[in-house]
Amino acid sequence: MNLYFFPEPLLAIETSCDETGAAIVAGRRVLANVVTSQARLHEKWGGVVPEAAARAHVEAVLPAIQEALTIAGLNMHSIRAIAATTRPGLVGALSVGVSVARSLAWALRLPIVGVHHLEGHILSPLAEHDDLPFPHLCLVVSGGHTEVVEVRAPDQYRILAVTIDDAAGEAFDKTARLLGLGYPGGAEVERLARDGDPRRYALPEAVRGEPHQLSFSGLKTAVLRLVEKEGERLSPADAAASVQNVICRSLARKIEYFVETMGIGNVTLVGGVAANRALRRELEKAIAAYGGRLFCPSPALCTDNAAMIGIVGSWRLGNGRVAVDDLDIQARAPLPGTLENISS
Ligand code: KG4
Ligand code: ZN
Repeated sequence: MNLYFFPEPLLAIETSCDETGAAIVAGRRVLANVVTSQARLHEKWGGVVPEAAARAHVEAVLPAIQEALTIAGLNMHSIRAIAATTRPGLVGALSVGVSVARSLAWALRLPIVGVHHLEGHILSPLAEHDDLPFPHLCLVVSGGHTEVVEVRAPDQYRILAVTIDDAAGEAFDKTARLLGLGYPGGAEVERLARDGDPRRYALPEAVRGEPHQLSFSGLKTAVLRLVEKEGERLSPADAAASVQNVICRSLARKIEYFVETMGIGNVTLVGGVAANRALRRELEKAIAAYGGRLFCPSPALCTDNAAMIGIVGSWRLGNGRVAVDDLDIQARAPLPGTLENISS
């Protein structure tokens, strides 16, 4: 599919949760992608504290923009457009990035576009894969989302499955907490799992009879019970490997179902949990049987970042798909361009 993008340097800002991101893109190329993580700040509370996140964004956002400009070898006067995540997310956190974006756009008389965070994840593979086929299936797995989306084209999406409770990343993070690991714990669970036996503990799959749903709450309860029951005898490595195994298997089965029923073999894997190598392997195996291919962005584009917001902004500006309402800050918001809803 021939895609057109806004060709000139665009500054993108992402502050929807606990990463402050600033990036410069031109067309679909990423010239700089700076992320300042607040994970350390929130670690002591075991989760993101919205008020603390907003204040940390205030401190980090201008230095992040400056650093991105320096890396790209540009200054603010060479920027031709601005994009910012406006929804969904923590309202106080979003307000910081959006206020800065609006101020800069106003002062420099630049066009501005508000971007949906999930659309950023969905289109993030465009930055590195010129040959990304459409339609394809997208598995979004992060701390806030677990969704399977049919991507017919940019701005043409159909949500095929969502989690009815926890996101896959939350399942990893809660397991990490129960095993006494840090926050966010997905990467640490993966590290620990390398030396563990994935078949040691039997845990429930996240796939239910309903094809349009995933559910991780049963798994969370089972891990809690396992930790309580085994006490001192628990092998953390085996527990981590067993949890990782069941999460990866569940997601692979779900993808396999849609690849088979929809006849779409190409799949993108995006969001923070996409960094997990066991998940990539499991999906590759499932898809290969149907002659499909797995496309996964590099880690810096998988976890929350502003480059993916810039890609969406560049596509939207380049195609005149910009609405004033998109600048409204919203804690929850439907994915734009959703063709039919889940039950259809
Ligand atoms: O996309 P992201 O940075 O932020 C959200 O939008 O939520 O995703 C963060 C999530 C966290 O739950 C983190 O534990 C998980 O991604 N994660 C991983 C790995 N690296 C990050 N989960 C499993 N394995 C990993 N290697
Ligand atoms: Zn995200």
